[in-house]
Amino acid sequence: MKDILLKEYKLNNMLILKNRIVMAPMTRAKATDELVPTDAMVEYYVRRSSAGLIITEGTVISEDASGYNNVPGIFSEAQVKHWKKVTDKVHHHNGLIFLQIWHVGRVSHPTFLKGKLPIAPSETEMTQRLHRSENLIPGKSRAASVQEIQEIIENYAIAATNAIKAGFDGVEIHGANGYLIDQFLHHHTNRRQDNYGGTPENMARFALDVVRACGEAIGYERVGLRLSPGGYLNQIVGDARDAEVFKFLLAELNKLPIAYIHTGNFDDSQKFSELNQMTMTEFMRKHYHGTLIGCGGYSFKQARENIENNLFDLVAIGRPFIANPDLIDRYIHEKPLVPYHNAMLDTLY
Ligand code: PHB
Repeated sequence: MKDILLKEYKLNNMLILKNRIVMAPMTRAKATDELVPTDAMVEYYVRRSSAGLIITEGTVISEDASGYNNVPGIFSEAQVKHWKKVTDKVHHHNGLIFLQIWHVGRVSHPTFLKGKLPIAPSETEMTQRLHRSENLIPGKSRAASVQEIQEIIENYAIAATNAIKAGFDGVEIHGANGYLIDQFLHHHTNRRQDNYGGTPENMARFALDVVRACGEAIGYERVGLRLSPGGYLNQIVGDARDAEVFKFLLAELNKLPIAYIHTGNFDDSQKFSELNQMTMTEFMRKHYHGTLIGCGGYSFKQARENIENNLFDLVAIGRPFIANPDLIDRYIHEKPLVPYHNAMLDTLY
Protein backbone atom coordinates (compact mmCIF):
# COMPACT_ATOMS: atom_id res chain seq x y z
CA MET A 1 0.00 0.00 0.00
CA LYS A 2 1.30 3.43 -0.89
CA ASP A 3 2.63 5.57 1.96
CA ILE A 4 -0.18 7.95 2.88
CA LEU A 5 2.22 10.93 3.00
CA LEU A 6 3.06 10.36 -0.65
CA LYS A 7 -0.51 10.03 -1.85
CA GLU A 8 -1.98 12.96 -3.69
CA TYR A 9 -4.66 14.97 -1.93
CA LYS A 10 -7.58 16.73 -3.55
CA LEU A 11 -7.96 19.98 -1.65
CA ASN A 12 -10.95 21.03 -3.74
CA ASN A 13 -12.07 21.25 -7.35
CA MET A 14 -9.22 23.61 -8.17
CA LEU A 15 -6.22 22.27 -6.30
CA ILE A 16 -4.67 18.82 -6.09
CA LEU A 17 -1.55 18.35 -3.94
CA LYS A 18 0.95 15.79 -5.24
CA ASN A 19 1.72 14.63 -1.69
CA ARG A 20 0.61 15.43 1.87
CA ILE A 21 3.78 17.14 3.03
CA VAL A 22 3.38 20.91 3.18
CA MET A 23 6.23 23.36 3.65
CA ALA A 24 5.27 25.42 6.71
CA PRO A 25 5.48 29.22 6.62
CA MET A 26 8.78 30.42 8.09
CA THR A 27 10.03 33.97 8.54
CA ARG A 28 13.34 34.43 6.72
CA ALA A 29 13.59 38.23 6.67
CA LYS A 30 15.75 38.37 3.56
CA ALA A 31 13.69 40.68 1.33
CA THR A 32 15.05 44.09 0.30
CA ASP A 33 14.52 47.18 2.43
CA GLU A 34 11.53 47.92 0.18
CA LEU A 35 10.18 44.48 1.21
CA VAL A 36 10.65 43.13 -2.33
CA PRO A 37 11.47 39.40 -2.77
CA THR A 38 14.98 38.78 -4.12
CA ASP A 39 16.34 36.29 -6.66
CA ALA A 40 17.81 34.27 -3.78
CA MET A 41 14.25 33.91 -2.45
CA VAL A 42 13.13 32.68 -5.89
CA GLU A 43 15.74 29.91 -5.78
CA TYR A 44 14.98 29.09 -2.12
CA TYR A 45 11.33 28.39 -2.89
CA VAL A 46 12.02 26.69 -6.21
CA ARG A 47 14.37 24.21 -4.51
CA ARG A 48 11.41 23.12 -2.36
CA SER A 49 8.89 22.72 -5.21
CA SER A 50 8.50 19.01 -4.50
CA ALA A 51 6.45 19.79 -1.37
CA GLY A 52 2.74 19.04 -1.82
CA LEU A 53 2.16 22.72 -1.10
CA ILE A 54 4.55 25.53 -0.20
CA ILE A 55 3.21 28.14 2.20
CA THR A 56 5.46 31.17 2.04
CA GLU A 57 6.83 33.16 4.91
CA GLY A 58 4.45 35.75 6.36
CA THR A 59 4.11 38.60 3.87
CA VAL A 60 2.77 41.94 5.03
CA ILE A 61 -0.43 43.31 3.52
CA SER A 62 0.55 46.97 3.88
CA GLU A 63 3.41 49.14 4.97
CA ASP A 64 1.95 49.49 8.46
CA ALA A 65 1.30 45.74 8.93
CA SER A 66 4.93 45.01 9.75
CA GLY A 67 6.95 44.48 12.89
CA TYR A 68 10.19 43.12 11.43
CA ASN A 69 12.78 44.39 8.97
CA ASN A 70 13.12 42.78 5.54
CA VAL A 71 10.03 40.60 5.59
CA PRO A 72 8.42 40.67 2.14
CA GLY A 73 5.26 42.59 1.26
CA ILE A 74 2.44 42.19 -1.26
CA PHE A 75 1.21 45.76 -1.62
CA SER A 76 3.57 47.38 -4.17
CA GLU A 77 3.95 46.72 -7.90
CA ALA A 78 7.59 45.76 -7.46
CA GLN A 79 6.66 43.19 -4.80
CA VAL A 80 4.00 41.63 -7.06
CA LYS A 81 6.44 41.56 -9.98
CA HIS A 82 9.16 39.81 -7.99
CA TRP A 83 6.81 37.33 -6.35
CA LYS A 84 5.72 36.43 -9.90
CA LYS A 85 9.25 35.17 -10.53
CA VAL A 86 8.85 32.84 -7.56
CA THR A 87 5.48 31.46 -8.61
CA ASP A 88 6.44 31.06 -12.30
CA LYS A 89 9.46 28.97 -11.41
CA VAL A 90 7.69 26.92 -8.73
CA HIS A 91 4.91 26.15 -11.23
CA HIS A 92 7.50 25.26 -13.84
CA HIS A 93 8.71 22.63 -11.36
CA ASN A 94 5.18 21.36 -10.88
CA GLY A 95 4.80 22.92 -7.42
CA LEU A 96 1.86 24.62 -5.71
CA ILE A 97 2.39 27.74 -3.62
CA PHE A 98 0.20 29.83 -1.30
CA LEU A 99 1.24 33.25 -0.02
CA GLN A 100 0.83 33.76 3.71
CA ILE A 101 -0.67 37.22 4.27
CA TRP A 102 0.13 38.92 7.53
CA HIS A 103 -0.60 41.86 9.79
CA VAL A 104 1.31 41.74 13.06
CA GLY A 105 -0.94 44.08 15.06
CA ARG A 106 0.62 44.83 18.42
CA VAL A 107 3.79 42.78 17.78
CA SER A 108 5.48 45.83 16.36
CA HIS A 109 7.11 49.05 17.45
CA PRO A 110 6.78 52.77 16.52
CA THR A 111 10.10 52.37 14.63
CA PHE A 112 8.26 50.38 11.97
CA LEU A 113 5.21 52.64 11.99
CA LYS A 114 6.48 56.16 11.38
CA GLY A 115 6.38 56.80 15.12
CA LYS A 116 2.79 55.63 15.68
CA LEU A 117 1.85 53.06 18.31
CA PRO A 118 1.10 49.55 17.03
CA ILE A 119 -2.56 48.77 16.52
CA ALA A 120 -4.47 46.01 18.34
CA PRO A 121 -8.11 45.27 19.24
CA SER A 122 -7.59 47.02 22.61
CA GLU A 123 -4.91 49.01 24.36
CA THR A 124 -2.39 46.48 25.62
CA GLU A 125 1.20 46.38 26.72
CA MET A 126 3.85 43.90 25.64
CA THR A 127 7.00 43.68 27.74
CA GLN A 128 8.92 40.98 25.85
CA ARG A 129 11.59 42.01 23.38
CA LEU A 130 10.84 41.50 19.69
CA HIS A 131 12.92 38.42 19.03
CA ARG A 132 14.09 39.59 15.61
CA SER A 133 14.91 43.11 16.77
CA GLU A 134 16.34 42.48 20.17
CA ASN A 135 16.79 46.04 21.24
CA LEU A 136 13.08 46.78 20.76
CA ILE A 137 10.20 46.12 23.12
CA PRO A 138 6.78 46.60 21.47
CA GLY A 139 5.35 48.27 24.58
CA LYS A 140 1.92 49.83 24.34
CA SER A 141 -0.58 49.27 21.55
CA ARG A 142 -3.60 51.41 20.76
CA ALA A 143 -7.13 50.19 20.04
CA ALA A 144 -8.01 50.17 16.34
CA SER A 145 -10.97 52.37 15.40
CA VAL A 146 -13.84 50.76 13.49
CA GLN A 147 -12.76 52.70 10.42
CA GLU A 148 -9.22 51.37 10.73
CA ILE A 149 -10.59 47.85 11.10
CA GLN A 150 -12.54 48.29 7.86
CA GLU A 151 -9.42 49.60 6.09
CA ILE A 152 -7.37 46.62 7.28
CA ILE A 153 -10.03 44.17 6.05
CA GLU A 154 -9.92 45.93 2.69
CA ASN A 155 -6.11 45.69 2.69
CA TYR A 156 -6.33 41.93 3.21
CA ALA A 157 -8.62 41.66 0.16
CA ILE A 158 -6.23 43.80 -1.91
CA ALA A 159 -3.31 41.66 -0.76
CA ALA A 160 -5.18 38.49 -1.77
CA THR A 161 -5.94 40.00 -5.19
CA ASN A 162 -2.29 40.98 -5.57
CA ALA A 163 -1.25 37.46 -4.62
CA ILE A 164 -3.33 36.07 -7.48
CA LYS A 165 -1.82 38.71 -9.82
CA ALA A 166 1.58 37.47 -8.67
CA GLY A 167 0.60 33.95 -9.73
CA PHE A 168 0.02 32.33 -6.34
CA ASP A 169 -2.38 29.38 -6.17
CA GLY A 170 -3.98 30.91 -3.11
CA VAL A 171 -3.37 32.72 0.16
CA GLU A 172 -3.09 31.58 3.74
CA ILE A 173 -4.45 34.22 6.09
CA HIS A 174 -2.18 34.36 9.13
CA GLY A 175 -4.69 34.19 11.96
CA ALA A 176 -2.31 32.55 14.46
CA ASN A 177 0.56 33.01 16.89
CA GLY A 178 -0.52 36.18 18.63
CA TYR A 179 -0.58 38.46 15.58
CA LEU A 180 -3.45 40.81 14.72
CA ILE A 181 -6.26 38.36 13.88
CA ASP A 182 -5.35 36.15 16.84
CA GLN A 183 -5.38 39.23 19.08
CA PHE A 184 -9.09 39.65 18.26
CA LEU A 185 -9.78 35.99 19.09
CA HIS A 186 -8.39 35.98 22.65
CA HIS A 187 -9.89 37.69 25.68
CA HIS A 188 -6.43 38.67 26.88
CA THR A 189 -6.02 41.15 24.00
CA ASN A 190 -9.62 41.84 22.99
CA ARG A 191 -11.57 43.83 25.55
CA ARG A 192 -13.64 45.78 23.03
CA GLN A 193 -17.23 46.64 23.80
CA ASP A 194 -18.38 47.14 20.20
CA ASN A 195 -19.25 44.73 17.36
CA TYR A 196 -15.72 43.35 17.44
CA GLY A 197 -15.60 42.33 21.09
CA GLY A 198 -17.49 41.10 24.15
CA THR A 199 -19.13 37.92 22.78
CA PRO A 200 -17.80 34.92 20.81
CA GLU A 201 -19.71 36.15 17.76
CA ASN A 202 -18.21 39.63 18.01
CA MET A 203 -14.70 38.42 18.77
CA ALA A 204 -14.76 36.10 15.75
CA ARG A 205 -16.11 38.85 13.48
CA PHE A 206 -12.78 40.32 12.39
CA ALA A 207 -11.36 36.91 11.40
CA LEU A 208 -14.55 36.08 9.49
CA ASP A 209 -14.67 39.49 7.83
CA VAL A 210 -11.12 38.96 6.59
CA VAL A 211 -11.86 35.43 5.36
CA ARG A 212 -14.99 36.63 3.56
CA ALA A 213 -13.25 39.66 2.04
CA CYS A 214 -10.48 37.43 0.67
CA GLY A 215 -12.91 34.68 -0.36
CA GLU A 216 -15.08 37.14 -2.28
CA ALA A 217 -11.99 38.68 -3.89
CA ILE A 218 -10.23 35.51 -5.13
CA GLY A 219 -12.58 32.58 -4.49
CA TYR A 220 -12.91 30.71 -1.20
CA GLU A 221 -11.18 27.64 -2.65
CA ARG A 222 -7.99 29.67 -2.73
CA VAL A 223 -8.14 30.83 0.88
CA GLY A 224 -6.64 28.98 3.87
CA LEU A 225 -6.47 30.16 7.47
CA ARG A 226 -3.90 29.51 10.17
CA LEU A 227 -5.16 29.53 13.76
CA SER A 228 -3.82 29.12 17.30
CA PRO A 229 -6.80 28.46 19.56
CA GLY A 230 -4.46 28.05 22.54
CA GLY A 231 -2.60 31.10 23.82
CA TYR A 232 1.15 30.53 23.74
CA LEU A 233 3.13 33.03 21.66
CA ASN A 234 3.69 36.77 21.64
CA GLN A 235 2.38 37.12 25.16
CA ILE A 236 -1.16 35.93 24.53
CA VAL A 237 -2.39 34.53 27.83
CA GLY A 238 -5.01 31.82 27.40
CA ASP A 239 -8.42 32.37 28.99
CA ALA A 240 -11.04 29.67 29.66
CA ARG A 241 -13.55 31.74 27.66
CA ASP A 242 -11.43 31.63 24.45
CA ALA A 243 -12.67 28.14 23.49
CA GLU A 244 -16.18 29.51 22.88
CA VAL A 245 -14.78 32.13 20.50
CA PHE A 246 -12.93 29.48 18.49
CA LYS A 247 -15.95 27.13 18.53
CA PHE A 248 -18.08 29.90 17.07
CA LEU A 249 -15.42 30.76 14.49
CA LEU A 250 -14.93 27.12 13.43
CA ALA A 251 -18.70 26.58 13.16
CA GLU A 252 -18.91 29.58 10.81
CA LEU A 253 -15.88 28.40 8.82
CA ASN A 254 -17.66 25.06 8.32
CA LYS A 255 -20.21 26.96 6.23
CA LEU A 256 -17.61 28.48 3.90
CA PRO A 257 -15.86 26.55 1.10
CA ILE A 258 -12.35 27.62 2.17
CA ALA A 259 -9.32 25.50 1.23
CA TYR A 260 -8.18 24.50 4.73
CA ILE A 261 -7.31 25.51 8.26
CA HIS A 262 -3.83 25.03 9.68
CA THR A 263 -2.45 24.74 13.22
CA GLY A 264 -0.15 27.55 14.30
CA ASN A 265 2.08 26.01 16.97
CA PHE A 266 5.73 25.04 17.24
CA ASP A 267 5.04 22.00 19.45
CA ASP A 268 1.70 20.40 18.81
CA SER A 269 2.05 17.92 21.66
CA GLN A 270 1.13 20.76 24.03
CA LYS A 271 -2.31 20.44 25.65
CA PHE A 272 -4.14 23.59 26.71
CA SER A 273 -6.30 23.98 29.79
CA GLU A 274 -8.43 26.56 27.95
CA LEU A 275 -9.12 23.90 25.27
CA ASN A 276 -10.31 21.27 27.72
CA GLN A 277 -6.87 19.65 27.84
CA MET A 278 -6.79 19.15 24.07
CA THR A 279 -4.00 20.05 21.69
CA MET A 280 -4.79 22.84 19.24
CA THR A 281 -5.10 20.31 16.42
CA GLU A 282 -7.39 17.99 18.40
CA PHE A 283 -9.61 20.94 19.23
CA MET A 284 -9.77 22.11 15.63
CA ARG A 285 -10.46 18.59 14.35
CA LYS A 286 -13.34 18.31 16.78
CA HIS A 287 -14.99 21.53 15.68
CA TYR A 288 -14.00 21.92 12.02
CA HIS A 289 -15.02 19.47 9.30
CA GLY A 290 -12.87 20.51 6.33
CA THR A 291 -9.21 19.96 5.52
CA LEU A 292 -6.88 20.41 8.49
CA ILE A 293 -3.12 20.83 8.24
CA GLY A 294 -1.37 19.65 11.41
CA CYS A 295 1.84 21.44 12.34
CA GLY A 296 4.19 21.58 15.29
CA GLY A 297 7.25 19.35 15.42
CA TYR A 298 5.84 16.18 13.81
CA SER A 299 8.11 13.36 12.67
CA PHE A 300 7.14 11.60 9.45
CA LYS A 301 6.09 8.58 11.49
CA GLN A 302 3.80 10.60 13.74
CA ALA A 303 2.41 12.44 10.72
CA ARG A 304 1.56 9.17 8.96
CA GLU A 305 -0.13 7.81 12.06
CA ASN A 306 -2.07 11.00 12.65
CA ILE A 307 -3.30 11.14 9.07
CA GLU A 308 -4.25 7.46 9.20
CA ASN A 309 -6.04 8.03 12.51
CA ASN A 310 -7.82 11.03 11.04
CA LEU A 311 -6.37 13.65 13.40
CA PHE A 312 -5.42 15.76 10.38
CA ASP A 313 -5.22 15.50 6.59
CA LEU A 314 -1.89 17.10 5.70
CA VAL A 315 1.25 17.78 7.71
CA ALA A 316 3.26 20.99 7.57
CA ILE A 317 6.99 20.66 8.18
CA GLY A 318 9.10 23.67 9.06
CA ARG A 319 12.75 23.58 10.08
CA PRO A 320 13.61 20.22 8.43
CA PHE A 321 12.64 21.93 5.15
CA ILE A 322 15.23 24.63 5.84
CA ALA A 323 17.92 22.02 6.41
CA ASN A 324 16.77 19.78 3.54
CA PRO A 325 15.47 21.50 0.41
CA ASP A 326 15.15 17.98 -1.06
CA LEU A 327 13.16 16.74 1.94
CA ILE A 328 10.63 14.85 -0.18
CA ASP A 329 13.32 13.05 -2.12
CA ARG A 330 15.10 12.10 1.09
CA TYR A 331 11.84 10.81 2.52
CA ILE A 332 10.99 8.77 -0.56
CA HIS A 333 14.45 7.23 -0.72
CA GLU A 334 14.87 6.87 3.04
CA LYS A 335 17.99 9.00 3.02
CA PRO A 336 19.00 10.56 6.36
CA LEU A 337 17.99 14.16 6.98
CA VAL A 338 20.51 16.91 7.55
CA PRO A 339 19.92 18.17 11.11
CA TYR A 340 18.65 21.74 11.43
CA HIS A 341 20.84 24.40 13.09
CA ASN A 342 19.91 27.99 13.81
CA ALA A 343 22.98 29.08 11.86
CA MET A 344 21.19 27.86 8.73
CA LEU A 345 18.91 30.88 9.04
CA ASP A 346 21.79 33.13 7.99
CA THR A 347 21.60 32.05 4.39
CA LEU A 348 18.78 31.19 2.03
CA TYR A 349 20.05 27.88 0.75
C1 PHB B 1 8.71 34.53 13.64
O1 PHB B 1 9.14 35.36 12.86
O2 PHB B 1 9.42 33.98 14.47
C2 PHB B 1 7.33 34.11 13.55
C3 PHB B 1 6.56 34.67 12.58
C4 PHB B 1 5.27 34.27 12.43
C5 PHB B 1 4.77 33.29 13.23
C6 PHB B 1 5.52 32.73 14.22
C7 PHB B 1 6.82 33.13 14.37
O3 PHB B 1 3.54 32.88 13.07
